Amino acid sequence: MLIKRPGDIKPSEITPQGIYARRRELIKSAGLLAVAGVAGIGTGPATAQTGAKLPAIRKSSLSTTEKPNSFKDITSYNNYYEFGTDKSDPAENARALKVRPWSVVVEGEVKKPRAFGIEDLLKFSLEERIYRMRCVEAWSMVIPWVGFEFNQIAKQVEPTSKAKFVEFVTAYQTDTMNGVRMPILNWPYTEGLRIDEAMHPLTILSVGLYDQMLPNQSGAPVRLVVPWKYGFKSGKSIVRIRFVEKQPKTAWESAAPQEYGFYSNVNPDVDHPRWSQKTEKRLPSFFANRKTEMFNGYADQVASLYAGMDLKKLY
Ligand code: MTE
Repeated sequence: MLIKRPGDIKPSEITPQGIYARRRELIKSAGLLAVAGVAGIGTGPATAQTGAKLPAIRKSSLSTTEKPNSFKDITSYNNYYEFGTDKSDPAENARALKVRPWSVVVEGEVKKPRAFGIEDLLKFSLEERIYRMRCVEAWSMVIPWVGFEFNQIAKQVEPTSKAKFVEFVTAYQTDTMNGVRMPILNWPYTEGLRIDEAMHPLTILSVGLYDQMLPNQSGAPVRLVVPWKYGFKSGKSIVRIRFVEKQPKTAWESAAPQEYGFYSNVNPDVDHPRWSQKTEKRLPSFFANRKTEMFNGYADQVASLYAGMDLKKLY
């Protein structure tokens, strides 16, 4: 196994190698980067909502007392592959994302399927949740999200007894997302949770960061946040939520099942096949000198969800 300092983990490594090689080929042979440039991607319609202040927000007892990262740290080092694989790409390219009008369709095994406009989502009682977030690439940040518990959505649509999992489907805008021209993942990016994970009070839908509407690179206008799992479970720019009977296939599982499982709980005892998960660097530090905690430090709240499961097999 290759154990690297997290700072050395490049997109070529986080991305399954075969897929990355294919992508480089494509870029070279089709001159796709040039096409993206000609299309003016990155200079699309600016989003009026970016930077807009959110109204008074309640504080939550579920927040960590650790010091949050700065707004700049949180919004300049991102993963949002639809806008490129470098950490600085989303801040630049996601400006083009069209975030209005926006609605989230909630369907499947529910008694009352419906679409929630972003205006409806902003009417939920919003609170600040300061969460530790741990990326599978072994870096972490502390992020003051603003949002509401996912279970509030569930209450409105009334899942049936057949609903065992929840699938989250994210936006696929071919005219604004330069990254979806590359077959890095099966677009649209999808994620999934078991229903009890989704209903857990720590699982939120976030619409803001600090006291502002969510910036595009952070997953505007609405994203999932699941703080005890690796960051990739927290799908950005959600457009569809399906309550389903069978465990859905997630984007990363489809791309590299040997590297990314369905559960993806933060676990220092289960290494990624290509690097250790025992420690992490807390950005903006360069040093991976923090011990990673089981369930990212949320074990007291969530360990019972996994009682009796072999987490080395169900990673
Ligand atoms: N959601 C979408 N739609 N596309 C992505 O590429 N990347 C995931 C997740 N959600 C991703 C996504 C990964 S790998 C991580 S670590 C987190 O978003 C990063 O969130 P952040 O940039 O807000 O820190």
